[in-house]
Amino acid sequence: MSQSSETAAFPIVVLISGSGSNLQSIIDRQQDFESGAYISMVISNNPEAHGLQRARKSGISTIVINHRDYPDRPSYDAALMVEIDRYQPKLVVLAGFMRLLTTDFVSHYSGRLINIHPSLLPRYPGLNTHQRAIENGDRKAGATVHYVTAEVDGGPIIIQASVPVAADDNSQQLAQRVLAQEHHIYPRAIQWFTQGRLTVKDNKVLLDGDESAQQRIISNEI
Ligand code: GRF
Repeated sequence: MSQSSETAAFPIVVLISGSGSNLQSIIDRQQDFESGAYISMVISNNPEAHGLQRARKSGISTIVINHRDYPDRPSYDAALMVEIDRYQPKLVVLAGFMRLLTTDFVSHYSGRLINIHPSLLPRYPGLNTHQRAIENGDRKAGATVHYVTAEVDGGPIIIQASVPVAADDNSQQLAQRVLAQEHHIYPRAIQWFTQGRLTVKDNKVLLDGDESAQQRIISNEI
């Protein structure tokens, strides 16, 4: 599946830390992306990340840059940027990359750095999103793909999918239901990005110049 950098029109670098189920969904949908778009490299901060095996199985190159080998966040992020920039990516995808990023990193990739977050942002930035949704008695939970800006989990929203919260849900059950939706919306967001269909205006994402978000909010009922 991977191509040499000479022929690559649209290299994508994916950063992971764990299971890599979102990475898998992106690998499985690469054929839907604009031609020339492909995952050129998967980078993990965690040598044990299962996602590394998923990538290798699909013939995608991987690198581990272990944060434990660096004294602080700025030096880690600087090393990460050097590695990422070797592939000249047009898009950098955070797929369960469980690290806060420096503002230098975020501004370096501004407009080509996206993330998936397991909540209906702006609700529940940060961790433990499913537990918080349950404790607050929310009837809906979901996931959001967004551009990354300096504000944690605060950048312009590309696409969201919601699922109902069942009365007896625990956070694992809810997480599983949300994750299944993540696997739909992340490849779709990347497809749109590679097709050049996304623009950002006044901190809002437009699809094909349209702000009305119809195709960008997917509501799943029981
Ligand atoms: C997902 O829930 C994602 O929203 C969050 O981290 C999790 C990663 O899961 N940022 P996976 O590694 O893609 O399976």
